[in-house]
Amino acid sequence: MQSHPADRRSTIPLGLNLEKDMSSHSNAIASRQNRLSDSLGAFGFEALVVNAGPTLTYLTGLHFHVSERPVVAVFTPDMQPHLVLPSLEMGKASRAPFDLATFNYGEDPKSWQKAFDIAFESAGVGAGTIGVEPGSLRFLELQYVKGAASDAKLKSGQECIASLRKIKDIEEVALMREAVHMAESAVEATVQAIKPGMSEKEIASELVLQLIRNGSSSDLPFEPIVAAGPNSADPHAVPSSRRLAHGEVLLIDWGANNDGYYSDLTRVFSFGEPSEESLRIAEVTAEANAAARAVARPGVSAGDIDRAARDVIVKSGYGKYFTHRTGHGLGIEVHEEPYIRGDNEELLEPGMTFTIEPGIYLAGNVGVRVEDDMLVTDSGSESLSTIERSLTIL
Ligand code: CO
Repeated sequence: MQSHPADRRSTIPLGLNLEKDMSSHSNAIASRQNRLSDSLGAFGFEALVVNAGPTLTYLTGLHFHVSERPVVAVFTPDMQPHLVLPSLEMGKASRAPFDLATFNYGEDPKSWQKAFDIAFESAGVGAGTIGVEPGSLRFLELQYVKGAASDAKLKSGQECIASLRKIKDIEEVALMREAVHMAESAVEATVQAIKPGMSEKEIASELVLQLIRNGSSSDLPFEPIVAAGPNSADPHAVPSSRRLAHGEVLLIDWGANNDGYYSDLTRVFSFGEPSEESLRIAEVTAEANAAARAVARPGVSAGDIDRAARDVIVKSGYGKYFTHRTGHGLGIEVHEEPYIRGDNEELLEPGMTFTIEPGIYLAGNVGVRVEDDMLVTDSGSESLSTIERSLTIL
């Protein structure tokens, strides 16, 4: 049942560039696994148990779907990862660019516990504290983990995982940069096609098409928000059949998925001259966005970023219409750490990526939001997104 795939690099003929890409990718994975080993020690975990999802992909480079068949990886400080998976997924596991112990099971669910038992025994896990992802591990996986490690104590591994994932490596930053580029090109092509009288859904469908044409996976980070007129005042509007009228604000919140790494942007447009107040709140929001970007650098707290944006909006008199936090971490999930909230005194570090997205929402009338994707650098920060931030009249 257990197999140790041999080093396959010598047997697969690769072009020069691909070989270079592959080896830098496997270096990135190896370095994430090393950092995890240190982190497990620091948090006092004998193991971290992760089911299919973004964290498993982050730590292994392997993509597994969440399904009725559990896929669970066991990471310990000093052994190779142990992976329990259905037999039909073994092909994927054999392509892992690192030493991996696999424990596969067949179609009969009655045989699955056995695979977990052998994996946990082989990993020497079962007596200490096991970290799990509270938001991902399901009852399905939990029952097998408990069955295989009945003496172990299960604890949230959230902090342990976030401490790794929130600092992006070079490979991740490059993927995110490209995801931002895809999103920007897609919206630029979309707005050229917008005519008054088009519905939010029609505009959204054009945007989705353009995202995929510009290189995004069709598995978008989220359904784009395309909100016209009063719908723009709903921060989580869903595209409807409402048609865009002359002079109305059109708010678009969209992102691309580049090999599992996301972008998440918001801009506002109008077809023809918008109202005075629309222009005013768009200007204030862009100023708030700029103020927050200007203070983002290592050593500044997430709360300071929120306050920088909020102060501008409060001073303008629209404070009570900025109804949400200023931003959220971004990477392999649309919302991840660090959260840019006023009460979060966590300090920014180089390699963190997050959104800055202040907004002003006048219910029943109009709403605006200006959202950028930020990277904290060694000496400051960089906005990965650069397209025009003021309300663009089409
Ligand atoms: Co966002």
